[in-house]
Amino acid sequence: MTQMDSDWWKHTVCYEIYPSSFKDSNGDGVGDIKGITSRLDYLKSLGVGCIWLTPVYASPMKDNGYDVSDFYQINPLYGSMDDMDELLAEAKARGMKIVMDLVFNHMSEESAWFLESKKSKDNPKSDWFIWRDQPNNWRGIFGGSAWTYSEERKQYYLHTFGSFQPDLNWENPEVRKALYDIANFWIQKGVGGFRIDAIVYIKKPSDFADGKPDASDGTVFIHDMTANTEGILDFLHEFKKNVLDGKNVFTVGEANGIHPEELHRWVGKDGVFDMLFEFNHLQGGDIWYRPIRLSTLDVKKAIFQSQKATEKNGWYPIFFENHDKPRSVNAYFSEKANKELASKALITLLLTLRGTPFVYEGEEIGMSNVNWNSIDDYNELNSRSQYEMALQEGFSHEQSIGFVKALSRDNARTPMQWNDSLNAGFSLGKPWLQLNENFTQVNVASQEKDPNSPLNYFKRLSQLRKNHAVLLNGDFAPILESDPQIFAYRRTWNGKSLTVLVNLSEMEASYASQIVEGQTLIFSNLDGVKLGTLRPLEANIFE
Ligand code: GLC
Repeated sequence: MTQMDSDWWKHTVCYEIYPSSFKDSNGDGVGDIKGITSRLDYLKSLGVGCIWLTPVYASPMKDNGYDVSDFYQINPLYGSMDDMDELLAEAKARGMKIVMDLVFNHMSEESAWFLESKKSKDNPKSDWFIWRDQPNNWRGIFGGSAWTYSEERKQYYLHTFGSFQPDLNWENPEVRKALYDIANFWIQKGVGGFRIDAIVYIKKPSDFADGKPDASDGTVFIHDMTANTEGILDFLHEFKKNVLDGKNVFTVGEANGIHPEELHRWVGKDGVFDMLFEFNHLQGGDIWYRPIRLSTLDVKKAIFQSQKATEKNGWYPIFFENHDKPRSVNAYFSEKANKELASKALITLLLTLRGTPFVYEGEEIGMSNVNWNSIDDYNELNSRSQYEMALQEGFSHEQSIGFVKALSRDNARTPMQWNDSLNAGFSLGKPWLQLNENFTQVNVASQEKDPNSPLNYFKRLSQLRKNHAVLLNGDFAPILESDPQIFAYRRTWNGKSLTVLVNLSEMEASYASQIVEGQTLIFSNLDGVKLGTLRPLEANIFE
């Protein structure tokens, strides 16, 4: 294997698919694997070389697949193992790879493993999960106690997320071996890599002590008690040795709460993964009624730090959206912002920072948040529990639904907008989740026809990136670091360099034109570029 082959994932664009919402081939209102296969040529046209599927395994679907009951089976809602094999083969024929999601912190309460474990204290799988006689005061990520009582076993089990997602006991070597076998099964099938879910939670502090309450009900957020517990990396090095070493697959871990200065322990030569999704540059926050609102300067600082930290350690997965986050055109900009320009401004960063871009379905056409006024319109469980929490803390319905509108995970999960026909061309049946009503204006078909659309901007810039060694390999150096509006940097490789200037603010900005002196403008999201000024949301690339 040449160096170039084994590093293929550094030089491509990854596309995240939320299968329920991407493309329905059989009219049942839920997207499926055949639907994905039917759109591979579209993905190819975006320059995508790798497709991350959120879980498609057998699941009761209480958290849309993140509650896996059997990793060796495909969820019948999505199709069959034959459909999966066909997808792998069709992707391969187009030079693309499929990346699977490993949900290894927990299983579904309906998995054979858990059904066995909860039977008694002395069955063969009795300590495959985490059982205690008494709960502590930890609050789960989806709200409520992190412990649920099992009548059958007469004990409490721990769940970092929903009560239907019992945490696996990684201290048990049999559990770890069973998980490595699963990953190896999928490598044998020919997948190109793994996104590894919620991995920072697999190790718990051994005393399971109560934490200092952070809410009026006396609970403490489990994340603050268990994320990144000392000893976690020993497990992960074992995973690396048993699953990854010597194989041509890449890994990207989901690592909420890992800071750039710790990255070297997690990624690269001395770490375990190739890349890590950290969340320090994302708007939002875990408790929705205490939203975190980052300024352009904060966002810049966070990304610059990660760019620096991954210069020597591992590689950076560039992303602004995923299936858990609001749409970026809403998260980073005001309601009044021109969404098409805003989308192109972020696409510029996504495709020119140093690292592998991860684009989330619909981001390439600038899909935006929904505007639903009743909690009953929301499907995903965290929206409901955050709404309840906000009411309990004394906020009104209007305020509470406001938090949900801004941060609901359903914002990203509405069906993909393919065209302006019935159900946006997503399905001939009733979609499992309401569409965003703007699909008649924002959709793939109309953007394909419009040379100035975000979609065509994405395609052109993706092509530029593919053919530009500076963008693929170049070093990264921040410029205008303390400018509150302009996100700017230089990429340099083999004596050549590019300068990227993006005005992330909705007001005109100015800069000293010497920074691009002697360089030629090669790309912009607006006509009539004037050196020294950037109109609201203007993005320019100079060579
Ligand atoms: C991750 C997933 C999210 C899921 C959770 C529990 O954060 O991205 O969608 O609900 O893990 O598996």
